[in-house]
Amino acid sequence: MTHPWWKTSVVYQIYPRSFMDSNADGMGDLNGIISKLDYLALLGIDVIWLSPVFKSPMDDNGYDISDYDDIAPEFGTLADMDRLIAEARVRDIKIIMDLVVNHSSDEHPWFESARQSKDSPYRDYYIWREAQPDGSLPNDIRSYFGGPAWTFNPATNDYYFHQFSTKQPDLNWDNPAVPDAVYAMMNRWLDRGIAGFRMDVIDLIGKDVDNKVLANGPTLHSHLQAMHQATLKGRDALTVGETWSVTPETARLYSAPEREELSMVFQFEHITLTFDPVHGKWKPREFDLVALKQVFAKWQTELAGNAWNSLFWNNHDLPRAVSKYGDDGTYREASAKALATALHGMQGTPYVYQGEEIGMTNVAFESIDDYQDIETRNLYSERLEQGDSPEALMAAIHKNSRDNARTPMHWNGSDNAGFTTAKPWLKVNPNYTTINVEQSLADQNSIFHHYQRLIQLRKTNTTLVDGQFELLFPDRPQVFAYLRKTDAETLLVAANLSTERLTLQLPDKLRTETARVLICSGTPVTGVSQQLELAAYDAVIVSLS
Ligand code: GLC
Ligand code: CA
Repeated sequence: MTHPWWKTSVVYQIYPRSFMDSNADGMGDLNGIISKLDYLALLGIDVIWLSPVFKSPMDDNGYDISDYDDIAPEFGTLADMDRLIAEARVRDIKIIMDLVVNHSSDEHPWFESARQSKDSPYRDYYIWREAQPDGSLPNDIRSYFGGPAWTFNPATNDYYFHQFSTKQPDLNWDNPAVPDAVYAMMNRWLDRGIAGFRMDVIDLIGKDVDNKVLANGPTLHSHLQAMHQATLKGRDALTVGETWSVTPETARLYSAPEREELSMVFQFEHITLTFDPVHGKWKPREFDLVALKQVFAKWQTELAGNAWNSLFWNNHDLPRAVSKYGDDGTYREASAKALATALHGMQGTPYVYQGEEIGMTNVAFESIDDYQDIETRNLYSERLEQGDSPEALMAAIHKNSRDNARTPMHWNGSDNAGFTTAKPWLKVNPNYTTINVEQSLADQNSIFHHYQRLIQLRKTNTTLVDGQFELLFPDRPQVFAYLRKTDAETLLVAANLSTERLTLQLPDKLRTETARVLICSGTPVTGVSQQLELAAYDAVIVSLS
């Protein structure tokens, strides 16, 4: 079977502010990334997803763009970007960029013009409503970052709509000039040599604000189909939509090839499993492996053959996987490797978030002042006003603040983890002295080398790409185990996600004398034919035929 290239690729996400600072201003930048391309090539990844590097007032760290065609000066120049694309290509690495077009910055020239007068030619690029007759807000939609989704604009005596911060006004996709401008901009970037896009909150672009339909709105898929025709068709790009609202049924609408929309989407069901139904991520539930396995099994089975999964534990909005699902103390290395094995064994395109490959952990700054993330800071002040205690709020922040993922990358044990020689924009996690790239590269059994082996295996073993998924031991709360089957081969993937030593009795049909261990994360495994013994947090991938 021949595959589109993105089905056999592994993607690495870079959060540019926090990756590598090349000019001693405390902020990561494009030249810093270029200086680490050899490291990424060594890891073996095929694609870099670059979080936004466009010109921006940085209210939401670049997810608020004021010029889609230029690079933020703190990150570099267009010439640096061209050099990054070229230097990556030399190493067989493609670059995809973040497409943030549900909203722009309020400092984008379109909005600056639109907010001045109802006669502005850009007025209709955004969403405006008058107050209700009694003077209240147009409706009660709330912003994800706290407060109402409507902000008053004195010059025009009405309100603009924003689902994120007040500095991120939503674009009006019902005005054909907006998609036209977006598609032209996408083509300019694709022509410049990038290989596709990660599409920020793309499930929100088809909204119907008056009927309070935001995600998965009525015009979403017609926009995505028009976008495909106008930009992606014939380009062989990788596109991945960020879609918190997606279900297996709607995933097919986005990613069934004949519909010509996207390559794949990020689904978040495994993430939201630990969210409280009312308070969301700020009041997390205990992690439940049995429920988690059911979610993955559902996505694996339902998308097989007619759509494509993206596989991830981490990104720049989420806590560190080893802290959330593993054990970031005694078993940090083992549990990071077990989680990686469980994820990379499934069908789909794996995404690795910077630092995940060395097992970076959550951080617990004592003072709210050490947090930079707008969501975290807004939440803290809003909930404090509502009467929550600072202790409870800090505990929630330690678990789920987006800054957990955003502390600078740990390159070595020197000051500021080798990320910068200046004061970093966000404090480093103090555990960099023991958790860092230099240390991980020096140890053949490190998390880094385990990721390297997993990535390599995906390139040589087609069962990992094509094999059908079958969950094993669904009710056992300590182990995530499944099969991947083709006519030619059956793979067994088993990860002990507990500190107990486990014995897994293999079903008769799986017993074979010729079992071969392809990957083993810890204690070497032998004699898989009858039963499989797994020490605490050990994981294996075994070929059973
Ligand atoms: C997405 C991004 C997040 C950002 C938000 C608004 O969820 O991943 O970082 O704050 O969209 O653009
Ligand atoms: Ca810099």
